Amino acid sequence: MAKRIQTIDLDCYYGDFKAVSDINIEIEPRSVTAFIGPSGCGKTTFLRTLNRMHEVTPGASARGKILLDDEDINAPGVDPVRVRSTVGMVFQRPNPFPTMSIRENVLAGYQLNGIRLSKSESENVLERSLTGANLWGEVKDRLDRPGGGLSGGQQQRLCIARTIAIEPDVILMDEPASALDPISTLAIEDLINELKEQYTVVIVTHNMQQAARVADRTAFFNLQAIGEPGKLIEYDDTTTIFNNPANQQTEDYISGRFG
Ligand SMILES: Nc1ncnc2c1ncn2[C@@H]1O[C@H](COP(=O)(O)OP(=O)(O)OP(=O)(O)O)[C@@H](O)[C@H]1O
Ligand SMILES: [Mg+2]
Repeated sequence: MAKRIQTIDLDCYYGDFKAVSDINIEIEPRSVTAFIGPSGCGKTTFLRTLNRMHEVTPGASARGKILLDDEDINAPGVDPVRVRSTVGMVFQRPNPFPTMSIRENVLAGYQLNGIRLSKSESENVLERSLTGANLWGEVKDRLDRPGGGLSGGQQQRLCIARTIAIEPDVILMDEPASALDPISTLAIEDLINELKEQYTVVIVTHNMQQAARVADRTAFFNLQAIGEPGKLIEYDDTTTIFNNPANQQTEDYISGRFG
């Protein structure tokens, strides 16, 4: 549960294009870390590299090391499918399987991994995951209805339930609330705050107030010019990043002078 992430000299490429350069970062377990920075600076690319989703894009590759506690997730013989169940991901747009029931959505990870659960095990996973995602009360009487019939905010919490169902160590979220209304956004933020008790949580957000509300640590990424790779400019406690950043680029970004 809740592993430390460390990257060493990490570069991410699309073909010959270096999108992200030289990232050295340590992300603590049982904490929330926010990635912020202007569009195109490589936040999504870097995030997807952390669970080996980046390599799924044709032509994409990465160099450098990613350690989960002390395990190199790209070492020969490491199964990327196992990495992705250890490091779960929640996307920007809620993406439940729309025709599958709420129950089937939550249990989908087991089915995809070919794991058969007994009836009582499934019921336990279902209740634990939906409770963990703060959705149980709203759906417990309609578990066999389609996931696509929920509101946007409920669908995003269903996707979080699906992610935590398989008991990952790390949860990556790429702008998980950007498609949601303010009430659902606050529900997701409350949930993130609870998730950090058990998991390592990393969230990409364009919303500075959101980063300030939910993150213990914040990493600011930037790119010097179009076509240049994105870099990690500053990484510190969230309060320091927002109140007393060390770097002028961070200061300019958080005060809205660019980006
Ligand atoms: N599939 C792809 N093929 C080629 N280049 C890509 C691909 N995906 C992203 N890029 C490029 O990599 C760079 C980083 O993109 P990325 O999506 O990681 O940025 P981002 O910081 O997440 O931006 P945003 O805030 O807009 O989501 C950009 O120059 C982008 O055009
Ligand atoms: Mg992105």
